[in-house]
Amino acid sequence: MKKVSVHIDQDKGVIQPELHGQFIEFLGSCIYDGIWVGEDSGIPNYGGLRKDIVDGLKELEPPVIRWPGGCYADTYHWRAGIGKREERPVTYNENFGTFEIDTNQFGTHEFMKLCQMVGAKPWLNINLLSGSVAEMREWMEYCNRREDTSLARERAENGSKKPFAVEYWGIGNEVWAGGGTMTAEDYAREYRKYATAFPSFATVDTFFTKPPVMKRIASGPDGNKPRERVAWTKDFFKEMARYRQPAVDAYDLHFYNWNMKHPGQSELEFSGTEWNEVIQGCFELEDVIKEQYGLIQQGLKEYPEEEGFFKGAEAKCDLIVGEWGNWHSAAFMNRPALYQQCTMRDAITTALTLDIFHRNAGMVKLACVAQTVNVLNSLFLTKGERCLRTPNYDVFMMYKEHRGGSALEIEGLDTSGSGGIYAAASKKGDVVSISLVNTNMGNIKEIEIDFGTAAICIDAEILAGDAPAAYNSFEQPDRIRKQKAEVPGGSGPAFKLALPAASVSLYRFQVSPFYQQ
Ligand code: AHR
Repeated sequence: MKKVSVHIDQDKGVIQPELHGQFIEFLGSCIYDGIWVGEDSGIPNYGGLRKDIVDGLKELEPPVIRWPGGCYADTYHWRAGIGKREERPVTYNENFGTFEIDTNQFGTHEFMKLCQMVGAKPWLNINLLSGSVAEMREWMEYCNRREDTSLARERAENGSKKPFAVEYWGIGNEVWAGGGTMTAEDYAREYRKYATAFPSFATVDTFFTKPPVMKRIASGPDGNKPRERVAWTKDFFKEMARYRQPAVDAYDLHFYNWNMKHPGQSELEFSGTEWNEVIQGCFELEDVIKEQYGLIQQGLKEYPEEEGFFKGAEAKCDLIVGEWGNWHSAAFMNRPALYQQCTMRDAITTALTLDIFHRNAGMVKLACVAQTVNVLNSLFLTKGERCLRTPNYDVFMMYKEHRGGSALEIEGLDTSGSGGIYAAASKKGDVVSISLVNTNMGNIKEIEIDFGTAAICIDAEILAGDAPAAYNSFEQPDRIRKQKAEVPGGSGPAFKLALPAASVSLYRFQVSPFYQQ
């Protein structure tokens, strides 16, 4: 039996709620049918936004939602998505085999409404490829200007007198590929212009006293390319280190768990070997996070010391994982484009990936799953009036317990990707939450957890399917749902737990403050 020690006094940093962020984009049926059906639809909606999705997201309380892309951001002109809906221009989407018109019914106000209804902070990604600095600035003015300017008036005429106060702004998306096929040096040069043009939205009273509200998010590397991603980050910061630099508040790495070995293979059919391959695949992200965090710190150190009287604050840059999730080869053939079913295998890798973020909470500050509805590693699937919550949704719901907690050190687990059981723990006050993932396809596994102090288990939930390839279909939408699990008795310090095959569990313990380890 595996023995695991949870060191309740070894705090590894606060798990930012933003690590549970979401990402939506007009690809396949993510936006149209997935989120937006229009006010006149027979499908229940709140002013055009699907009721079932909004209600599900309200329960989930996503801290942040990223939009309009992704690749779509690079052809998106924000003006097409404001004003009277019937007068909006019709554009065309060619990304990832979507090949559909965009009626632009879902634009800035509809996105903000969604964020407001579900309590999420918006993250807007600007169009660096076919847009301009002027277009970016105008979108910012339109969204955030409090003063009575023409753009603020236009926003008010379109329904929102109150500014949207958008904090997160992405400058480009995947600029090494669809976002411009740039070199890191070329991007750094572009970035300088765009980042410098950010309005401050300060007032005379706050200019010297409050830090700027707008966060500049740079497009980071392709996390799936081991050599290129190292070179990219080194080159980007090297270029930034020449002369003066604008702030790089955050650096957006993308990492997909590609399952491309068998082109066209259904995401629902896999052997034991293919189960393991996909599970192993998600662990690479932990090394990528450590590597990229190190390279960012090294890059910042190379910034030259400032001369003269006016010295800025020390440069800091947060690491973000703006897109992550399983990408099965079938997604390219499936219709709508990039649609994937999500089996227990996807739920397991979703849990393992969130655990990676939690374990490395000191290094990664924000992450967005790709994507929330009907695209790739989704939390919801829709078909006409029907809507289901995938097992990934339950993982996110269970893991809400970790938000805002302090990540704890765990000893005795193999996190290299070959151990079978994985865990992450966090502490809020005297309550420790521990998530446990049994990646074994067919065997129940026993584990002993030791807190080194008196503890009682106060709650337990489990997510397990009746088969590893089980999924929620429109015929059986609740085949896999989290359930209450048996709470082990006793007062610790150690507890024996039995973890069913292919399962995700979340146990909560109240621990004594008189720590003895
Ligand atoms: O999430 C789907 C696509 O994957 C995004 O549009 C793009 O940024 C990435 O390549």
